[in-house]
Amino acid sequence: MILFRKKSDLAIRRGDLKKNNFKIGLVPTMGALHAGHLSLVKRSIKENDYTIVSIFINPTQFNDKKDLISYPKNLTKDCQYLDSVSRDIIVFAPEISEIYDKNLSVKKFNFQGLDKFMEGKYRRGHFNGVATVVSHLLDIIKPNNAYFGEKDYQQLRIIQQLVIDNNISANIIGCDTIREEDGLALSSRNSKITEPYRKFACKIFEAINYARINFNSMNFDDIYNYVNNFFDNIDDIELEYFTIAESEFLIPVNKKTIDKKYRAFIAVKLQGVRLIDNIALN
Ligand code: PAF
Repeated sequence: MILFRKKSDLAIRRGDLKKNNFKIGLVPTMGALHAGHLSLVKRSIKENDYTIVSIFINPTQFNDKKDLISYPKNLTKDCQYLDSVSRDIIVFAPEISEIYDKNLSVKKFNFQGLDKFMEGKYRRGHFNGVATVVSHLLDIIKPNNAYFGEKDYQQLRIIQQLVIDNNISANIIGCDTIREEDGLALSSRNSKITEPYRKFACKIFEAINYARINFNSMNFDDIYNYVNNFFDNIDDIELEYFTIAESEFLIPVNKKTIDKKYRAFIAVKLQGVRLIDNIALN
């Protein structure tokens, strides 16, 4: 594993790899790496000659300052973890000043409506922050392939749109969500849930999986009612939203149309920690 803190140093290494026509995979992360990240890294290693993992807690995508301050961080541990996977991994962990000016300026993007609901509605400005940093990373690294988890499905769709609208040549590759045995989607934020509350975390998957199992037999209104009642009866979890949306344009719906694909999206607060998940329904 080799660590770069400066984009100028990384650019030199990147230039050498480019000259040799090596295929580059990028796995953008905010650190606190877990098996979900590892699956992206392993896929990138398999499909490219070199893998660059970026580790950068992007301040502009946090609409809640407390969430930013408490976001888990441990660069040394992350680097050791990656080194144990492959000695060839290149880590790019820039300081904020390498990415942003003093005012942390964020570009305003047009995401063709993909940011209108779910995370875009509940976390104002979040996707402009994500797209700003991802465009910087794609510009600095110019990867052939970039890997994103489907756990952040709306983010994945937005980045797919971003590269189309801005003629960026990287392939954006969505990867399956990795789950604990009880269904909880792996997330760096899970480490903030302590033991008496952990047992409630599987309810998130239970709810969206109910929607998946009953997709053919129930109408959407009944699924919405079931999920809302389900969380009304669990005092420790606050449901922020449960939404069924069409998978391509992410428009919420309450009835299905033949030939369209749908996903169920959810955001909850458990022990003050905001957790999100989603699942394909058909
Ligand atoms: O999914 C994440 O971890 C972040 O949103 C990303 C893509 C690394 C941008 O900061």
